[in-house]
Amino acid sequence: MYLTRDEEKLLEDGSGISKCMEILVALGEIYGAERLIPIKSAHISGISYQNIGDEGLEWLRCLDVKFCVKTTLNPSGIDLERWREMGIDENFARKQLDVIDVFRRMGADITLTCTPYYIYKPGLGDHIAWAESSAVVYANSVLGARTNRESSISALASAVIGKTPFYGLHLKENRCPDVLVRVECEFDPAVLGYKIGSEIDGIPIFEFRRRLSHDDMKMLGAALASTGDVAIFHIIGQTPEWKDFEIPKERIVIDRAELETDDCDPDLIALGCPHLSRDELIRIYGFVKRYGKRVKKDVWIFLSRKIYNECSEVVEELEKMGIRVFKDTCMVVSPATERFECIAVNSTKALVYLTKLKGLKVVFDDLEGCLKRAFI
Ligand code: F3S
Repeated sequence: MYLTRDEEKLLEDGSGISKCMEILVALGEIYGAERLIPIKSAHISGISYQNIGDEGLEWLRCLDVKFCVKTTLNPSGIDLERWREMGIDENFARKQLDVIDVFRRMGADITLTCTPYYIYKPGLGDHIAWAESSAVVYANSVLGARTNRESSISALASAVIGKTPFYGLHLKENRCPDVLVRVECEFDPAVLGYKIGSEIDGIPIFEFRRRLSHDDMKMLGAALASTGDVAIFHIIGQTPEWKDFEIPKERIVIDRAELETDDCDPDLIALGCPHLSRDELIRIYGFVKRYGKRVKKDVWIFLSRKIYNECSEVVEELEKMGIRVFKDTCMVVSPATERFECIAVNSTKALVYLTKLKGLKVVFDDLEGCLKRAFI
């Protein structure tokens, strides 16, 4: 990979910056990148203390670097203020706060959300280096920004250097759809994405009978990325780049999109994977208000601190009805959900991760179906 003289110099001094350059150069060489390109932002995942542990924390401390582009962070293992209410133990919380403190000193925005695009929206054609598969697929597909599916480490290295290797989805020709998916039935985007992600290779372009909302596209993308390698999709007539390519010859027709899961009786209903938008929060509130009584089960919902603060009155009302609204964390990256027997979710990404990574029993339903279970 070609490096400028300044880039070569960054490799030389053995500092944390050199280590980050080494990571980007190794990645560029593996994937045949010609050079590095500047990025506008980085998003780092995997920051829960449950992932990082003591060794990772020590490594971060020793790296001793500063970020030189806008850098946002994925959810941590705790709500920074209300971790005791989540049943998190003191030692875990202290370590998690240490991790966040290291990132703060590096210059990260303490966003702690997998929906960084609600805080700052990259523009069409912007090169970025984002980890977190659901955010990657949203940025590429819905916003038309350009990012590969970075790991936590490569996103961190890019945040320090301000560049990323020029390969994969940074190149227009690699964003071309491979298969047309014609959907001829009503569907839940989370279920459709779950099925298509595991059934096709390559980039899908969808043809729907209706327009999808931004929340639909968020759920579709998160699901596609959780069962497949998908990092971008297109929708005819809707996403920003669909017209730039020919419609592929390979096509499939979907006339049924259903999903059956265990039907255990949930002792926790967990919503907000990916983190809730303002509209989703208001939908939840509208539904709960119609019932007009307190929930009978634990209901935890997860969102960014930005949406939490902007919608503080709705949050307060939900809390009065017995619903816990947590920010900075989620049902998957926090150890707090592990003590429950059966969890109801409306996200197939949560379904995949809670069952496969955590070995928990999980029942899937749509948003209203999950909430109805709270009143039984
Ligand atoms: Fe976000 Fe956690 Fe789901 S990071 S996408 S809420 S698994």
